[in-house]
Order: sequence, then C-alpha cells, then structure tokens
Amino acid sequence: MHITLYRKYRPSTFEEVAGETDIIKTIKNSLKENKMAHAYLFTGPRGVGKTTTARLIAKGLNCMENGVTDTPCNKCENCIDISKNKFIDLIEIDAASNRGIDEIRSLKDKINYQPAKGRKKVYIIDEVHMLTKEAFNALLKTLEEPPAHVIFILATTEPDKILETIISRCQRYDFKPVNQKESMDHILMIAKSEGVEIDEPSLKLIYEKSGGSMRDAISIFEKLISSCYGEEITLGKTEKILGVIPEKKLAEFLEIISKNDLVNGINFLDNLWNDSINVEDFLKSFAYYLKELMIEKKSPFNIMKTIAIIEDIFEVMGKFRYEEDKRILGYVILHKITEFKENVGVIHESSVQEKIVEKIVEKIVYVEKEVSDKSSEEAAETPKIVEKTVDISIEDVRTNWNDIVNESKRRKMPLISFLSTATPTKIEDGILHIGFYAENRFHKESMEKPYYNDIFLGVLKDKFGGIVIVKYDLLNEKNKVVEGKSDFVERVVDFFDGELI
Ligand SMILES: Nc1ncnc2c1ncn2[C@@H]1O[C@H](COP(=O)(O)OP(=O)(O)OP(=O)(O)O)[C@@H](O)[C@H]1O
Ligand SMILES: [Mg+2]
Ligand SMILES: [Zn+2]
Repeated sequence: MHITLYRKYRPSTFEEVAGETDIIKTIKNSLKENKMAHAYLFTGPRGVGKTTTARLIAKGLNCMENGVTDTPCNKCENCIDISKNKFIDLIEIDAASNRGIDEIRSLKDKINYQPAKGRKKVYIIDEVHMLTKEAFNALLKTLEEPPAHVIFILATTEPDKILETIISRCQRYDFKPVNQKESMDHILMIAKSEGVEIDEPSLKLIYEKSGGSMRDAISIFEKLISSCYGEEITLGKTEKILGVIPEKKLAEFLEIISKNDLVNGINFLDNLWNDSINVEDFLKSFAYYLKELMIEKKSPFNIMKTIAIIEDIFEVMGKFRYEEDKRILGYVILHKITEFKENVGVIHESSVQEKIVEKIVEKIVYVEKEVSDKSSEEAAETPKIVEKTVDISIEDVRTNWNDIVNESKRRKMPLISFLSTATPTKIEDGILHIGFYAENRFHKESMEKPYYNDIFLGVLKDKFGGIVIVKYDLLNEKNKVVEGKSDFVERVVDFFDGELI
C-alpha cells in the first residue's frame, strides 16, 4: 500500500519531533514526573506537530512496558496501537467535521467509563475552534471537572476563536512554524532513510515553499522524489518541478539593472516571455531575492536603493494588475529602476536591520505627514509666501476636470492613468480632496509622490491662478473617505516583518 511520507515519518518518539524544543521538554518532564495536567491546548499553524505531540502524550501515558514515561517503548501493544491510530482509549474528534452538540454529549456520556486497555483515556479534539457554541458550553462543563482517568488535548490553528473560559482551564502551548534548519535536517533525515539524494539548495527551496509547515515540506519532498525517478534531486530540477524562477535568471537580471542597462533589460524581459516564464512571478521573486541579498548584505545596491527597487516593483505590479501583456509592467519597472538616483553615503556602517526599521519609520512618517505638511509648507513657507491660495469651489474643479487631466497628461504621461480613476470630491477648509477607490490605491499613492504631485499642483496653479492645496483620499463603496495609513506602507512593513522582530 502506498502511504504518504508524512504519515510514514510521523515521529514515534519525542526525540524525533523537529523544533518545538521548549514545549517538548516541558511535556517530557511532566510525563517523567507523572504530573500531567488534565487539559492541554495546543495552538499553532498547520502541520507543525500538534496532533503528533498529542499522540505521543497518549503513548507516554499508556505504555505498558515503561509505565508513565517520556520514552514510550514503541513495542508494547498500546504503543503500537497508538502508532497505528487504532488505540481504543485514544479518542480523536475532528471538530471541523463534528461540530455539534451530539458529539460532545456522547463524549460526556462515555467519559465516565474507565479506560479499556490503558491508564488514561486521551481525548484529542482537533480544530476545536470549529465547535458550535452549545458544544463549546457542554465541553466547558466537562473540562471543569473531568474524571481522573481522562486527559483532554485541544488543538487549534485559530486560538483567537476560543473562549477565554476554555483557555483558562487548559495548559496552553503555542507551537511555532519550524525554522529552516529544523526543516532541512528533518527532510535530509527522511531522504537518507529513503535512499534519496538531494542537494542543499533544494532543501532550502523546499523550506521556503513550505512556509514553516513540516507536513508541507514533506509533501513537497515527496513530489520531488516521484518526479525525479530515483535520480538525485538537484536545484535545477527542483526549480522546474516547483515552478520556481531559477536563481540564475534572478542574478542575471540583477546584473543588468546594476549596470543600468536598459536595452539588455528589455531583451531579458522579452526572453522571459519567450521562455514562458510569467513576468509578474519573475518580478515578485526578484523582489524577494533582493530582500534576501540585502539581509545577507550581498546586494550590489545600498539599502535605500534596494528598498526603493522593491517598492517600485510592488507599486507597478499593483498599478498594471489588469494589463495583459505583463512585459509592459517589466518595462515600466525597468525604467523606474534604472533612472533611480543613487543615494550615496551613510548607509554601510550600521546594521541592516536598523536601517530597514529606519526606512520604514521614515516612510510612515512621510506618508502621514506628507499631505498636510507638504501642502501647507508649500503654501506658507519662504518665497512662495507671496503666492496666495486661490478661492475656488468644487464646481470650478469639476467643470474644468477634463482640462486639468488632459493638461496633466500633456506634462507627464503617466498622470493620465493615475487621474483617470480619480474624482474631485469636495473642498473643505480650503483643501481640495481627490478621491480614489481602494482598487486604485496605487494611483493615489503615485499621486502622493512629490514628483507627480508637483506636476499636478502646477497644472492646478496655472488653471486657477494660484496655489491649490490638495489631499488624496481613499474612498469606500459609499464614497466615504477611508482613514488610516497607506496600504503600501503596511505591506512594506509586513514584507519585512520576519526580519523586524
Ligand atoms: N515538528 C515536527 N517534526 C517532525 N515532523 C513533523 C512535525 N510537525 C509535523 N510533522 C509531520 O507532519 C505530519 C503532520 O503533523 P501533525 O498532524 O502533527 O500536524 P498538526 O500541527 O496537527 O497540523 P494540523 O493543524 O493541520 O492538524 C506528521 O505526520 C509529521 O510527519
Ligand atoms: Mg492536527
Ligand atoms: Zn510501550
């Protein structure tokens, strides 16, 4: 019978569990001293060992050979039955499919019976957050005073959905995604035991694709095995099978842009297209590639420029989301990147992390302050103080809107695409508000860039004979202004999150 690798390699001892060291250590201690709690709550992402650990506890409590133990024998009938998942005193309830009160009621009915073959009945309730409210309440009563021969292990991927009253009755352990080394070591162990050769870059790639889930890492590895027909698994094959952009291509593109070589850049993008590599996927991978290089201090650009490139990539991708020929997207990005003026100096000494934080903080401050400060400074400060803001009505703007957009386009082409989705909404306290719907937030953010904003303000100034102060808003479906930080900044922060904490 074909069994999937992740089942075959479900850890049968605590020592085989990868990562989660502190949790495993504490649980082992409690078993050794026979001081287990009567209820546990395991939280954490999918495939990191929650159910595995719960079953190991069942073994530790019921091993016939070693007594209550942190080193179950794996040879006695109980250990073997638990490994095969057919131990009568281990009851697993999947709350995702048994959401109802009935299951919990029947659990309550049977709970008072002594274990049939072991010392303790172990109830594992998986995805416990899926229980209905009534079922939750019934469970709560049981958790309050379970019989001494019973232990509950509740597991969930969404702890926020669990009632505080339940949480407070359990000993809680938060499982973490496995890290790169843990994942790589574990897969290598499986590879050795399966007699499969795999190179280190492939192991890294598996980890990246798994997002820290060990189950996913094993499944990906299995897919590679079956596609490589017994041959060694190498990076080239792995990239192909997983549909990952070859690192060689990323490096090549990096070299091109670091030389500011627009022409070769365009050829390169055309070739991608011809190799049927999705340009959008490529650019996204390129952004991640740059991020990695920056963190490893291997980027040929300073940090400011590296981040600016990443920013440009995401910005343009958003803006041209509906463009069918994605090469255009590539061209625009290429153009933006290669015209970038290097921000020399200051960067290299201090740590990368610090600079990333600085840059993000700078960005947030920039976006938050930009509109108010910039326009008022512009209106109030130094030479421009002689120029007065004009007194216009929203009607004036609306009647002239087409002219304004056309003139903006004449002065700078991209303005047409940004402004085509914009609506002048109101004038309030002398400030002209221009609204964008959420799906066009990149247009809004583009307009907020000093470069485009200045051109646009210039057009308004010429049209109305004086300074117009502008604020760009995001609108919801009801045309109401949405308050809050720029989405882009949030995404930049998200993007760097792993490195920030
Ligand atoms: N920490 C780990 N060490 C070794 N193998 C693991 C680990 N976590 C998961 N696995 C592998 O993944 C499989 C699934 O793990 P498990 O059922 O314990 O995940 P889970 O955390 O309960 O996930 P889910 O939330 O999806 O139920 C196991 O059979 C095992 O092969
Ligand atoms: Mg599970
Ligand atoms: Zn045993």
